[in-house]
Amino acid sequence: SGTVRVDLSGVEPGQRITVKWRGRPVFVWRRSVAAIEAARAVELDDLVDTVDSARENPNLSGDVPARDENRTADEAGEWLIVIGVCTHLGCIPLGQDGSAVGEFGGWFCPCHGSHYDTSGRIRKGPAPRNLDIPPYDLGDDLQLVIG
Ligand code: FES
Repeated sequence: SGTVRVDLSGVEPGQRITVKWRGRPVFVWRRSVAAIEAARAVELDDLVDTVDSARENPNLSGDVPARDENRTADEAGEWLIVIGVCTHLGCIPLGQDGSAVGEFGGWFCPCHGSHYDTSGRIRKGPAPRNLDIPPYDLGDDLQLVIG
């Protein structure tokens, strides 16, 4: 089936892990307080792609502003879970190992130089859209189900 289960209870604050889902990498990041604050301080006016649709984030029921609060798996924003495929031409952005995170602290796509912020939103470079978010369920027990 297209469902993947991952136990996130051993993931440390600040740690990033990559999970394969339907042949694509899914980036899971237990964000630090600084990364959460950076993501939540961004004004919509500073974004390239200001709206997330239900096609881009199936956990939504319709179009919503691409605020960090609408993109995280938990209300506090500790867990950001995005599909690790650049929305330009499909390269896998760098940053999961904590280096090459780009100018906005999230990810950097080396293929043509797209910079994503700590919410996975495109901020600079040719990529037209924020990183997509997979359908998921994350319970209080930190058992993640993708798909
Ligand atoms: Fe990522 Fe072109 S594929 S910038």
